Amino acid sequence: MHNCNCENPLVPQIVEIVKIIDETPDVKTFHVRNENGVPFDVRPGQLAMVSLLPVGEGMFSVSWQEEKEHLQFAIRRVGLMTDELHSVGVGHKIGVRGPYGNGFPVEACQGKDMLFIAGGIGLAPLRSFIKYCLKHRSDYGKIQVLYGARSYADLCFKDELFDLWPKEKDTEVFTTLDRPEEGWDGHVGLIPSYLEELNPAPEGKVAVICGPPIMIKFALKSLEKMGYNDEQVITTLEMRMKCGIGKCGRCNIGSEYICLDGPVFNLAQLRKLPPEW
Ligand SMILES: Cc1cc2nc3c(=O)[nH]c(=O)nc-3n(C[C@H](O)[C@H](O)[C@H](O)COP(=O)(O)OP(=O)(O)OC[C@H]3O[C@@H](n4cnc5c(N)ncnc54)[C@H](O)[C@@H]3O)c2cc1C
Ligand code: FES
Repeated sequence: MHNCNCENPLVPQIVEIVKIIDETPDVKTFHVRNENGVPFDVRPGQLAMVSLLPVGEGMFSVSWQEEKEHLQFAIRRVGLMTDELHSVGVGHKIGVRGPYGNGFPVEACQGKDMLFIAGGIGLAPLRSFIKYCLKHRSDYGKIQVLYGARSYADLCFKDELFDLWPKEKDTEVFTTLDRPEEGWDGHVGLIPSYLEELNPAPEGKVAVICGPPIMIKFALKSLEKMGYNDEQVITTLEMRMKCGIGKCGRCNIGSEYICLDGPVFNLAQLRKLPPEW
């Protein structure tokens, strides 16, 4: 079931953009606030439909909820609506409906070591879980974040990656670029091979992974080779969505509606579905 707070789940709340951060040449983080609306109640990993009148709407992961009235979305410019959204400024009003989907199993992961593996904009949904773990630090074991992008410019959330997260207790951040680049003395290489180099032991660990399908495919193989079982590996899917509430039939894989039953699944659950993910 969707768990949005509004009376009609298809009617968006009107929110104001209060801050915009340029993350990369094509990703901006939008901070929005619904001053007088119904407070949002978002679990890490849940989704919301963002609309920009009169252009259209699109589904996005909530990248963080700071307070009940305050949401963050990291949005990549790829087409009609996101192009227009990247051209508006602070003070602009947009629509948000949701939250939708199941979100990450934050309670079931308590007491575990957490390994987050992300590529490109795939860090947007994982960031909500990473920040949740850091906010509830004593509920989780060691936290490791492995993140890669094509170039330094394409890394999202640089202040958190390089400054804030590594300062947290028992927290390590490993960053890699696809190709060498002037001024970068960090790791170079694709995420799955860096993962195998780091070789984090599977005992007591949960791996959470999101990124381009090709990265996910090879990282899953690496995790399997390293001894992770299917229950230990969680991912979040990005199927095309329209309604977000299980009505339009746009997002299903087999009998599962990704907007209701997902977008978060462990690998054991995914292996029972037709191989369309
Ligand atoms: C569950 C879910 C979570 C998402 N989370 C995020 C997020 O946190 N940040 C983010 O930047 N984007 C996210 N997306 C993708 C986002 O919804 C699309 O990029 C956006 O709707 C495109 O709108 P547009 O009008 O700008 O593009 P369009 O003009 O509609 O399309 C432009 C291009 O993007 C492609 N495209 C459009 N939608 C998708 C899609 N869902 N998946 C793959 N390709 C698509 C089209 O085929 C086309 O090539 C998510 C999508 C889903 C389903
Ligand atoms: S998006 Fe309409 S059924 Fe899932």
